[in-house]
Amino acid sequence: MSTRPDSIAANIAHWTKNNRERHVGGAGVESWAEGDLRWGIFGIREDDLGSPLGDVRGLDVVELGCGTAYFSARLAKRGARPVGVDPTPAQLATARRMQDATGIRFPLVEAPGERVPLPDASFDLALSEYGASLWADPKLWVPEAARLLRPGGRLVFMTNSLILNLTMPDRSEDVVTERLQRPLKELYRVEWADEVGVEFHPSHADWIDLLHVAGFEVERLIDVYARPESKRHDYYGYVSPEWARKWPAEEIWTARKR
Ligand SMILES: C[S@@+](CC[C@H](N)C(=O)[O-])C[C@H]1O[C@@H](n2cnc3c(N)ncnc32)[C@H](O)[C@@H]1O
Repeated sequence: MSTRPDSIAANIAHWTKNNRERHVGGAGVESWAEGDLRWGIFGIREDDLGSPLGDVRGLDVVELGCGTAYFSARLAKRGARPVGVDPTPAQLATARRMQDATGIRFPLVEAPGERVPLPDASFDLALSEYGASLWADPKLWVPEAARLLRPGGRLVFMTNSLILNLTMPDRSEDVVTERLQRPLKELYRVEWADEVGVEFHPSHADWIDLLHVAGFEVERLIDVYARPESKRHDYYGYVSPEWARKWPAEEIWTARKR
């Protein structure tokens, strides 16, 4: 990466503010205390999605955009050896506080997904749950994930679904609709009218090309629907369980490095 994309500084500013608002005092401890592996805003169990991660025991895992690192903590509880990578110092400070509070320790590295200061071929699994998967430029972070993985290693990431990105109004605070709000052709770099952050939402065709060019074989694209018992998220309220039972609000990609 010769020049640092402008999105990196914008997204660090966005997540510094978000951290200040959400992770004051002891907030976050519940997420670290939780034992189950659950995905996304409706907390769907890994088993109910056909186990995208599989058995992680003994695996070297890099989480790109680990945030407060609760997902890595849950993998550590299952016997994985995670390394959390995130560019926002405030998010990593919360993760360190959680490590002190719980005694679950693993390395935390301050870096964007676009350029990770870790050696080639040093991981079995690269993971992102709403981290690099939408906050980093995929033209840069997907090749970085490929570089970090050993041959045969897996990339698993969750992000907002394509249909959600097409039906969301312009303001991220709004609620998703049942109508198309923007052309598919204009997706990739997305800036909501009310936020400083920059998101990346390639079309499915673009994801497949990006993954293929970086040296991955796509294994699965999992549509993540809300379940009958799902409740609206108390912070990410932009999608109701009713909507998300009809359309997938989130998607998980799994791919294997050739
Ligand atoms: C929703 S949070 C992380 C998800 C994590 N599972 C959690 O909830 O703690 C998004 C994270 O992406 C990080 N992020 C922002 N820009 C990034 C980039 N260029 N590369 C990787 N991560 C980035 C933010 O700092 C933030 O911590």
